[in-house]
Amino acid sequence: MDSEEWVARQRRYWDSLSTAYDRMYDSAWSARENGLVAGRLAPLLPPGTACHVLELGCGTGLGYDLLARHTTAGIRYTGIDVSPGMLAAFARKHRAGEVTLVNAPVEEVPADRFADVDLVMALFTSASYVRLPLEALLRKILGWMRPKGGRLYLSFLNRTSLRLAPAWGFRPEIQYSSRRTRGAAAPALRYSRADLLRAARAHGLAARIVSLGPLTGMLEMPLAWSLNRLLADFTPGTHTIEMIA
Ligand SMILES: C[S@@+](CC[C@H](N)C(=O)[O-])C[C@H]1O[C@@H](n2cnc3c(N)ncnc32)[C@H](O)[C@@H]1O
Repeated sequence: MDSEEWVARQRRYWDSLSTAYDRMYDSAWSARENGLVAGRLAPLLPPGTACHVLELGCGTGLGYDLLARHTTAGIRYTGIDVSPGMLAAFARKHRAGEVTLVNAPVEEVPADRFADVDLVMALFTSASYVRLPLEALLRKILGWMRPKGGRLYLSFLNRTSLRLAPAWGFRPEIQYSSRRTRGAAAPALRYSRADLLRAARAHGLAARIVSLGPLTGMLEMPLAWSLNRLLADFTPGTHTIEMIA
């Protein structure tokens, strides 16, 4: 599949989910996951200071809402997304001018488009739909943080996902359908802990690799959350895998 087709398929798939997306994740389990992610993001931004946050695959705006609720930083926010439908849903929830939304695939955003970004984030597997070699994606992100240097939080689909193993084994490229969607799929790249550590090391980054917990996508029962939360810093077999640096 060439790059043009990859991007067209992303746009088509995520546009098709855009009006239902927030409802799909309106559950007690998702709310707990959001709290886990917010708790990891908040320490990446110094309290009370002005920060530029860049979100890749920002979707309908969950990441911005989490930061607005859980940090005291003065956030200037830019969200990038390939799907006009997802961005329209995001824009409907916020005042004009409150956030900057860019409709483009991350792959095509120029290396010199941003500078001095304080935090680059891609939440809930968004980084898996960017078709760049991992080291090239990190190079681009680190370039957007220069010269000052910032933090990153990137979420991917895990190559060792037990949930996806019956259909896809440990293949790096799969066709992925978000929860409760049938028939349609988007191409996605999966990574293992070793893949993420190798790419981070190539850029001299000391990265922490975590997950959303072993039960995500498998046994999402609120009663099981405490166990899931306890094990969320481990990654073997989990559905997602997150790099924090
Ligand atoms: C799983 S959703 C996550 C959305 C949001 N981060 C959240 O947590 O609710 C993935 C998002 O990535 C976007 N996306 C997919 N491929 C992309 C690409 N190559 N460049 C930019 N955005 C992309 C989709 O349109 C979608 O909004």
